[in-house]
Amino acid sequence: MSYDIVADIQRLKKEKNAVILAHYYEDGEIQDLADYVGDSFYLAKMGQQVKEQVILLAGVVFMAESVKILNPTKTVLVPDLEASCSLVKGAPFESYLAWKKKHPDGIMVTYINSSSEVKSISDVIITSSNAAQIIESIPKDRKILFGPDQHLGRWLSKKLDRSFEFWPGSCEVHVLFNAKKLYQLISENPDAVVIAHPECEESVLQYATVIGSTSRLLEEVSKNPAKKFIVATETGIFHQMQKNRPDVTLIQAPVMDAGCACNNCPYMKMNSLEKIKSALESLQPEITLNEQLRLEALTSLDRMMAITSGQTVAWPSISN
Ligand code: 13P
Ligand code: SF4
Repeated sequence: MSYDIVADIQRLKKEKNAVILAHYYEDGEIQDLADYVGDSFYLAKMGQQVKEQVILLAGVVFMAESVKILNPTKTVLVPDLEASCSLVKGAPFESYLAWKKKHPDGIMVTYINSSSEVKSISDVIITSSNAAQIIESIPKDRKILFGPDQHLGRWLSKKLDRSFEFWPGSCEVHVLFNAKKLYQLISENPDAVVIAHPECEESVLQYATVIGSTSRLLEEVSKNPAKKFIVATETGIFHQMQKNRPDVTLIQAPVMDAGCACNNCPYMKMNSLEKIKSALESLQPEITLNEQLRLEALTSLDRMMAITSGQTVAWPSISN
């Protein structure tokens, strides 16, 4: 069954001149089918560069919206328009705007896990793989408003020795890892290297040797000669880790409720081969954005792209 559907999807891809981009948190069968698999920054970059007319983004909606903002002449599809993110939901436009207005002297640094509306009032977008580089390019005397992920923000603030104003958002998946249980697991596995995504709480991050984006964590497992890793991020990434290093043991960092499947991102896991096939057949659901909104959101994404490619950018002067 699964072989037939994969063949159908491959045929549809050719017929529709389509390319599939997938995030590391998708199910293994979706990652294996994709033309490009990566973290959120890589997907945005690839979405800007690919030649095919149709881009199907097997990930969450904010990732597909970022591609549409950067590459508006393409038809950008998602398997399920309901595939949101707790960080997007936790940063509604009106409240984020009110926060910005309270700090007219601040530079608004916003995680890519945000709505297009929130991006449109932000000064620069960051991802977990480029955040440090981007924040370091902001003059030291400027105040930083960092949102929506407070844990990523607190980790960066400490790492860069710089204070931020934080938006109180969080990832509903990464905050479930439990520090006490992790401590216990480490004592039972003293030979394991602990790696974690910076969306985890500080109480968990304190035990990690390596903290980074999904691609950074994958790189660590690929290159580190250790034979055992405790991994504090979403389960989908285990697929690539195990493909790259079939010889290692991967242990999921523990959550409070041992029986739950709560390390699965419920939004990423809304996607399926069936929905991908259907989206390619019907060219729906398609991401559409009002052009004015798209152009406003493009400014902050363009700054991210410019800084990560080594350019110097101008920052807005203190607004009223
Ligand atoms: P990455 O940028 O590390 O892929 O993270 C995206 C994400 O949503 C993590 O929860
Ligand atoms: Fe959002 Fe968390 Fe899911 Fe990533 S894992 S898409 S941050 S809810």
